[in-house]
Amino acid sequence: MKTYLVTGGAGFIGSNFIIYMLKNYDNIKIINLDKLTYAGNLENLREIEENCNYIFLKLDICDKESIKKVFKENDIDYVVNFAAESHVDRSIEEPSIFFKTNILGTVNLLNLAKSTWETKNGFKKGKKFIQISTDEVYGSLGNTDYFTEDTPIAPNSPYASSKASADLIVKSYYHTYRIPVNITRCSNNYGPYQFPEKLIPLVINNCLLKKSIPIYGDGLNIRDWLYVEDHCRAIDVVINTGFLGEVYNIGGHNEKANIHIVNVIIKYLNENLDTTITEKLIQFVKDRKGHDRRYAIDPKKIRSELNWKPTTNFEEGIVKTINWYLKNKNWLHNLTSGDYQNYYMDMYKRQGGMYGKI
Ligand code: NAD
Ligand code: DAU
Repeated sequence: MKTYLVTGGAGFIGSNFIIYMLKNYDNIKIINLDKLTYAGNLENLREIEENCNYIFLKLDICDKESIKKVFKENDIDYVVNFAAESHVDRSIEEPSIFFKTNILGTVNLLNLAKSTWETKNGFKKGKKFIQISTDEVYGSLGNTDYFTEDTPIAPNSPYASSKASADLIVKSYYHTYRIPVNITRCSNNYGPYQFPEKLIPLVINNCLLKKSIPIYGDGLNIRDWLYVEDHCRAIDVVINTGFLGEVYNIGGHNEKANIHIVNVIIKYLNENLDTTITEKLIQFVKDRKGHDRRYAIDPKKIRSELNWKPTTNFEEGIVKTINWYLKNKNWLHNLTSGDYQNYYMDMYKRQGGMYGKI
């Protein structure tokens, strides 16, 4: 039975990953370690919270002593490090926490994995540290080229530079100590449980509330969209078959301009929910500072070496996503309504551990 230490598992991708893994494997144990910032939401994990192979710990990845204890009391096989401050606009307003969590937190986890897994002759077999990184570390593209794993790191926002720094540190630990690692760099994800500060859930939420939709600049910036479940499957594949020390880009050639995304969502809601949801909600606003123009992943390496490719195309994925938000209006409502986190913390305490079962 393999034990996964998943950090940031109450966030968007982390929670999708935990659900994906527990649906697909019954012989694994998952420890979800999350600080529960504004972006962490235990409601995301409701469908698996009673699973006996799942444990939640409310901890900060920067907390050395507590996480040391987690490593000591559990035979951790894989660390999957999703925990991060993840929103570019917030990093522009308040960068410091991005450097603390995304860089120092990663260093803390790496050091603890290293000291726990180290043997006289190297590292215990079957262990791996997976750093969940992003295509934003490569900076911005012109009209035609693609990010490959050899594209030089050239981050532009404080968020991207914090993720790039963590990547360089992970790489240096592999080069120096040979600690078993992989780094994955994925393009923009979308799907259930994404916090409505990010473009797609923000647009859906604003349409439902009939609030104006802010489009930065000319709306022609391009992102390469991947349905979150395809990302989760790619991470699973990298954990199991990725070659040690390697970086894998994850994407599906789904490049779309922001204005196109917004129009698709408005059209769907107009035709299927409410004819008063129209383009009139769109409001062009001042551009994001240092706004990257285009991201686009070349996924050749993960396709050819690890045989992964996405299965959900954008047209199908966006309809699934919009319908999920329509069915889960309470989830959106609870994010703003207050004390759902206290409710869950009380529940975990009642279940007999300070935070879960350790
Ligand atoms: P998110 O903001 O939805 O979730 C982040 C989670 O990390 C939250 O649950 C939060 O509580 C937790 N967290 C934050 N600081 C922590 C700390 N100090 N200790 C423990 N937990 C902490 O983010 P997401 O969109 O799910 O992204 C997850 C990871 O994937 C991030 O590392 C991000 O850089 C990367 N990524 C995201 C995307 C995307 O499109 N969302 C694409 C590529 C890579
Ligand atoms: O590329 C991967 C990255 O994708 C991840 O590493 C980040 O964690 C994730 O947040 C995301 O970053 P982006 O900046 O690309 O995502 P965001 O949803 O914030 O913005 C997508 C595009 O939409 C971007 O060009 C900015 C634009 N935008 C965004 C918001 C929130 C708007 O025009 N209006 C908005 O209100």
